[in-house]
Amino acid sequence: MRIAVPAETQGAETRVAVTPETVRKFAGLGAEIVVETGAGLASGISDADYQAAGATIAATASEALAGAAIVLKVRRPAESEIAGLPSGALVVGIMDPYGNEAAVEALSKAGVAAFAMEFMPRITRAQVMDVLSSQANLAGYRAVIDGAAEYGRALPMMMTAAGTVPAARIFIMGVGVAGLQAIATARRMGAIVTATDVRPATKEQVESLGAKFLAVEDDEFKQAQTAGGYAKEMSKEYQAKQAELTASHIAKQDIVVTTALIPGRPAPKLISAAMVESMKAGSVIVDLAVERGGNCELAKPGEIFVTPNGVRIVGHLNVPGRLPATASQLYAKNLFAFVETLIDKTSKTLAVNWDDELVKATALTRDGAVIHPNFAAKTAPAPVESAPAPAPAEAAPVVEGSTTNG
Ligand code: NAI
Repeated sequence: MRIAVPAETQGAETRVAVTPETVRKFAGLGAEIVVETGAGLASGISDADYQAAGATIAATASEALAGAAIVLKVRRPAESEIAGLPSGALVVGIMDPYGNEAAVEALSKAGVAAFAMEFMPRITRAQVMDVLSSQANLAGYRAVIDGAAEYGRALPMMMTAAGTVPAARIFIMGVGVAGLQAIATARRMGAIVTATDVRPATKEQVESLGAKFLAVEDDEFKQAQTAGGYAKEMSKEYQAKQAELTASHIAKQDIVVTTALIPGRPAPKLISAAMVESMKAGSVIVDLAVERGGNCELAKPGEIFVTPNGVRIVGHLNVPGRLPATASQLYAKNLFAFVETLIDKTSKTLAVNWDDELVKATALTRDGAVIHPNFAAKTAPAPVESAPAPAPAEAAPVVEGSTTNG
């Protein structure tokens, strides 16, 4: 059973789908791992590191892919890669299928079984496979580091002979996985931290991390969390009250990190141009939602934009990829944990249980057809309940993860 790891080709992807640690684990399951030369370099993993762990290095992607039963990826294979995928292989990665239905169709035509790791249900058994959490946690951390780097002052209070430096004020908007790590990081760096969210469950989490919670806590707020643990889109009235409350607060902040997302909807707009204008010169906004339309009206994807009043708005793409070594380490473990369930440990062969809820939730294509209910033809059965849908507004039906919430 051959497992192929071609180098990533999409954009500036710095992560890689296996590490020497997971190469050893796969080898323990009887697999032969072939990695394309240089695939790990951006994550600090050399060909020699992979070889020492038992992998073979291939000179090209097609050499790596030849005869593979499983192909491990970070991102969905690009159009140019699809022809090279061995028919019948399992292809596992972050497939980003919403809005990319043609690419899903192309994967089905290539005869591969494509699995979208981001659709993993948020149930206890699959926590170790939760790529959204492993990567969002790093994004939250990195957002604070990026914010601090753009900020021209120190974060902690310092009392020196030359004078006292005040602690920076950092406001975190959206307290999911990324937001919680952003709070913890900002606190560790000595900032005065406040945070907001629309889900009531977050209040206690924010306070337990030593930050202050700020939100419009009306009746709508009490109902804002869905059974799946995600946020609902709030009413226009709530959004207006929220904007009123946060506007005066934002004006006093040094760094604002936004992470707010709603499954199946564009990111909620939380920071208007007027709010940005109210901020002091030198303050920083880091918008982690920029790939989903942004929480800040003025954020530009992939840019650090400086406004005329001197506010720096950071819109980095692929923020987990800004910590490639750690992001790959955790992502590769997520992948291994899932792929291990697709292999029979005794016969050391592929043995996919197509009735397993994890397989049903993540499988997009199989045997030349698109099989995921959210993408298959309209005659298909109702959407799978357990697949989160981090989709743009115009995308397919919203389904969300059942969660153990923690
Ligand atoms: P997410 O990435 O979908 O959203 C980020 C945050 O933005 C959420 O906390 C959401 O409430 C907030 N938000 C949405 N609209 C907002 C608005 N208008 N203003 C302010 N904040 C707004 O969330 P993520 O990180 O995926 O977490 C969602 C839930 O899943 C949480 O309850 C989390 O605890 C849970 N979870 C459960 C796991 C498990 O059981 N295995 C693993 C990871 C997360």
